[in-house]
Amino acid sequence: MKSIVFATNNAHKIAEIQDILNDEFRIIPLSEIGCTEDIPETSLTIEGNASQKAHYVNDKYKVDCFADDTGLEVDALGGKPGVNSARYAGPGHDFEANVTKLLKDLTGQLSRRARFRTVISLVTDDNEILFDGIINGIIINERRGSKGFGYDPVFIPDGYQQTFAEMSPELKNTISHRAIATRKLIKYLKENYEV
Ligand code: IMP
Repeated sequence: MKSIVFATNNAHKIAEIQDILNDEFRIIPLSEIGCTEDIPETSLTIEGNASQKAHYVNDKYKVDCFADDTGLEVDALGGKPGVNSARYAGPGHDFEANVTKLLKDLTGQLSRRARFRTVISLVTDDNEILFDGIINGIIINERRGSKGFGYDPVFIPDGYQQTFAEMSPELKNTISHRAIATRKLIKYLKENYEV
């Protein structure tokens, strides 16, 4: 069976993509190649971080791999929080504090346009390919829904009435930024990847 390393420590993401790939591919977790350290994420862009993570694992462990990075880009905030989405309210990954800061920063703003953007970097034999996934929508004024994570309670994708946090996980995982980028990666792997 073909296999490839996913440079993430997020077990949920590994399960999600393994599910989509069925038995055609096996996703190898970092623990299986002995990578237990924190992978550097110091780039100033989303694509830069995805690329940095994939190259780090490829360089150090000599394996083909892919990595992803995601940000929420809000027009009225000049694209912020963007690459800093996970730590918008400060260090750490406090979703509550990040959403509170976002709503505060948007107080009185008429423009609510925003998008989630995921970039996946696939690094194989000195070759890199990027895949992106974008979903446009708006940021509402208050939280709605309890599913999902991060900024889901305040984001309504275009064409829907519900926030990501009000949708079933099945629907969100079909239309999301990550789903779009992941489908592009999977199509590429199925058609081109020979290992
Ligand atoms: P990551 O690169 O996938 O770890 O995402 C970085 C940050 O973006 C997360 O910590 C969340 O704050 C936010 N984020 C990423 N994906 C989503 C999503 O699907 N819904 C809401 N927030 C997200």
